[in-house]
Amino acid sequence: MGRKRKPEVGFVMAVVFLLLLCSSVSPLSDEGKALMTMKASFRNVANVLQDWNDVPNSDLCSWRGVFCDNISLSVVSLNLSSLNLGGEISPAIGDLRNLQSIDFQGNKLTGPPKLVILQMDMAIHTFDDIMRVTENLSEKYIVGYGASSTVYKCVLKSSRPIAIKRLYNQCPHNLREFETELETIGSIRHRNIVSLHGYALCQYGNLLFYDYMENGSLWDLLHGPSKKVKLDWETRLKIAVGAAQGLAYLHHDCNPRIIHRDVKSSNILLDENFEPRLSDFGIAKSIPTALPHASTYVLGTIGYIDPEYARTSRLNEKSDVYSFGIVLLELLTGKKAVDNESNLHQLIMSKADDNTVMEAVDPEVSVTCLDLNKVKKTFQLALLCTKRHPLDRPTMQEVSRVLLSLLPPPPAKPTSAPPKPIDYSKFVIDKGQKQQPQLKHQQQVKQENNSSDAQWFVQFGEVISKNTL
Ligand SMILES: *[C@@H]1O[C@H](CO)[C@@H](O)[C@H](O)[C@H]1NC(C)=O
Ligand SMILES: *[C@@H]1O[C@H](CO)[C@@H](O)[C@H](O)[C@H]1NC(C)=O
Ligand SMILES: *[C@@H]1O[C@H](CO)[C@@H](O)[C@H](O)[C@H]1NC(C)=O
Ligand SMILES: *[C@@H]1O[C@H](CO)[C@@H](O)[C@H](O)[C@H]1NC(C)=O
Ligand SMILES: *[C@@H]1O[C@H](CO)[C@@H](O)[C@H](O)[C@H]1NC(C)=O
Ligand SMILES: *[C@@H]1O[C@H](CO)[C@@H](O)[C@H](O)[C@H]1NC(C)=O
Ligand SMILES: *[C@@H]1O[C@H](CO)[C@@H](O)[C@H](O)[C@H]1NC(C)=O
Repeated sequence: MGRKRKPEVGFVMAVVFLLLLCSSVSPLSDEGKALMTMKASFRNVANVLQDWNDVPNSDLCSWRGVFCDNISLSVVSLNLSSLNLGGEISPAIGDLRNLQSIDFQGNKLTGPPKLVILQMDMAIHTFDDIMRVTENLSEKYIVGYGASSTVYKCVLKSSRPIAIKRLYNQCPHNLREFETELETIGSIRHRNIVSLHGYALCQYGNLLFYDYMENGSLWDLLHGPSKKVKLDWETRLKIAVGAAQGLAYLHHDCNPRIIHRDVKSSNILLDENFEPRLSDFGIAKSIPTALPHASTYVLGTIGYIDPEYARTSRLNEKSDVYSFGIVLLELLTGKKAVDNESNLHQLIMSKADDNTVMEAVDPEVSVTCLDLNKVKKTFQLALLCTKRHPLDRPTMQEVSRVLLSLLPPPPAKPTSAPPKPIDYSKFVIDKGQKQQPQLKHQQQVKQENNSSDAQWFVQFGEVISKNTL
């Protein structure tokens, strides 16, 4: 019997071995196949994605850059950053149904013409989702027309609504440059800047995907037909502060620095809390740091364009400061930058000469502002921003500091130290001009006796008009 048993044991063991083998050779799941399709459309994968393989026992959850949910074993995250990949991101990424985050930075990847990947509220949406929801960008979903684009609203499942901007310009004149610019803009995250979540260059035109802003633009609020909301002084000041901080961020904290180039009230959007967000970098351009005065063709909007920039075509962030000054004037007066033949800046300049600027204040501001000195200071600031010579204009950092100082202190600290006085004279007088000590003196007087405010303002107006006109 002993002799007969041996082959049986061997046979059983062989079967068990085969069973074990079979159970571990599973074909790739749909997600595995999607990843393999993606790998096929990448280039330079030889060294970095070796373990992405359709071979027995390949566990996609252990593949480089692939992260799975421990329980469902479904792919939740892809991180292929800085792997020097080239080629395209395949639309097969849409088959990774539970994907929540992706990081493809530091590669030279492009999407196929109609791919977009949006990451909103931890859910990935693809171009096809968006086309389905908007019925291929049906007119029904149009919420506005801009100077350079039509805007659609798209409400995706389980996430915040997005605004889709479809650019009129069908063919960016340098596609590569355009994409680089979009990537730069897409990487910016600031509470006062509308986030660009993605873009698609496709047969439907060039599409940009942004957060949707519930409360429309500052232009709509100030001049729109509905005028549902009356903007009190403090709200206006907060909007000015936020917009100034967003611009200061673009000018001073971004690398490369960014000049917006089209600052105006219709490009300041308001979220549901009336927090302002700068939008429409459609014509923004990163400034190469080596070329401080890049010469370029003039773009912008009439009424807001820095005349110096229009004259010389020399791009400088102070052009944004000029346009921001015009926005301040709009906030103060409730008037449009240009209305019929009337130019707001010219109007205010002539009133500054006559010392009648305060007549131009929007009644809604007068009745809600408890301290008209702050209104005056804001006028002064606006006139500084719009001084003829870019060098005489403050930086956006200085502008936002001044505006912030005009906001009432937060209620939490009612007995805080008096706010640090702002040295306005620094802005008012050209360096080297002899008037400085006198003006400083004036300012000190002003702090003690507010009846001399008017005097100071007159002098301010004189300085401004001498240098500007
Ligand atoms: C998944 O597994 C990793 C490592 O084994 C562990 O650190 C993590 O907490 C797990 N996550 C969940 C949601 O179980
Ligand atoms: C992706 O990986 C890189 C390098 O390991 C890391 O610096 C980066 O933070 C990761 N990205 C995300 C979104 O986790
Ligand atoms: C959108 O376009 C696709 C392909 O062009 C088509 O199959 C689909 O029916 C269109 N959907 C609508 C709602 O028009
Ligand atoms: C601003 O947004 C809030 C929240 O969506 C909404 O209730 C309110 O009506 C909006 N106001 C205007 C003026 O659009
Ligand atoms: C602008 O012009 C139109 C017609 O030319 C006129 O009806 C309107 O009152 C003018 N608006 C202002 C603010 O002057
Ligand atoms: C304010 O200044 C004026 C003259 O400039 C003076 O007559 C007046 O007494 C001052 N008031 C106070 C409270 O100092
Ligand atoms: C003058 O300033 C004081 C304190 O700074 C303030 O209480 C007072 O209301 C001001 N008067 C006028 C007319 O602005």
